Amino acid sequence: QPGWPGIIRAYADRIQLPEGAKVVTLHEGGTPLVASDYLSDVTGCQVYVKVEGANPTGSFKDRGMTVAMTHALASGIKAVICASTGNTSASAAAYAAKAGLTAAVLVPRGKIALGKLAQAVAHGARILQIDGNFDDCLELAAKTSAEYPITLVNSVNPVRLVGQKTAAWEICDVLGRAPDVHCLPVGNAGNITAYWRGYSDYATDGVVGSTPRMFGFQAAGAAPLVLGEPVADPETIATAIRVGSPASWTGAVTAKEQSGGLFEAVTDEKILEAYRLLASREGIFVEPASATSVAGLLATAADGRLPGGSVVVCTVTGHGLKDPDTALLGVTEVEPVPVDPGAVATALELA
Ligand code: F0G
Repeated sequence: QPGWPGIIRAYADRIQLPEGAKVVTLHEGGTPLVASDYLSDVTGCQVYVKVEGANPTGSFKDRGMTVAMTHALASGIKAVICASTGNTSASAAAYAAKAGLTAAVLVPRGKIALGKLAQAVAHGARILQIDGNFDDCLELAAKTSAEYPITLVNSVNPVRLVGQKTAAWEICDVLGRAPDVHCLPVGNAGNITAYWRGYSDYATDGVVGSTPRMFGFQAAGAAPLVLGEPVADPETIATAIRVGSPASWTGAVTAKEQSGGLFEAVTDEKILEAYRLLASREGIFVEPASATSVAGLLATAADGRLPGGSVVVCTVTGHGLKDPDTALLGVTEVEPVPVDPGAVATALELA
């Protein structure tokens, strides 16, 4: 196969597969690491944005899903199940389609962004809505897979996190070093756990000489790790990270503590500000949850917790097209114009 081979083949020496497994891949990973002039100027740091919306289904979940689906297929199982705020279900649906497996997805009623639902529908997943939040969906998915022949592909499945480590490896491979600080949005906390393991692998093996401090940011209405206790009714516009009881709690705390990092909450208002700024100043359209890392970057730069001159990577986790409703908030009508160059010029204030 020509071109980027996907993360399993790109990191074949670091990702173990079952004997004789057929690799299920959509050539995920190899995503852009974009130098951000604006964010670097504002923060006095050297800021890069890892654009995970460039993955095949538009989020970082594909890194874990290629590995989870490859294992599931090799095991001889016929169906996979996941709970999701939307991106895991979109990814599971696509990779199950590719593998020829059935995907069942449990989603919280009315709380998943339109684009993600469209993806699950398009890929032919069995979509079941739960009268509850993500945490309820995950509990139900785990119980179902424990009792019936269906494999759980949420990040509590450890091979998911192996795949997600590849983002940290890619960053080090491109920069030729580890960053000083890595900023991430945190929901169910699998990704911050995986990044920290990935960076730690490279440092342990002498590929890089250091590890970054891990800065994990949560939405203020869904910030259990910041509060130090689960949140019963999480609420935020960033529906992807509307999680009250993160499954990888221990992994996230380990990442924070071992790296000398921090957890911080950012308001929906600051998330939307960062969301608009990324799109309008950097040309990077992300979904609201993804902008949480950048909102956190700006907050910690402003209050001095982010040392000036640091090399910083912010992961933006999902594509803006996932959530068209948020993009169009406050837009009622697109300006009409007559079929006439003069009218166009007048509208654009060129005349
Ligand atoms: N950003 C996006 C766009 C996400 O979809 C998620 C998680 C996160 C950040 C947080 O990552 O859970 O590893 O801390 N989405 C899950 C889902 C919960 O169901 O798609 P995390």
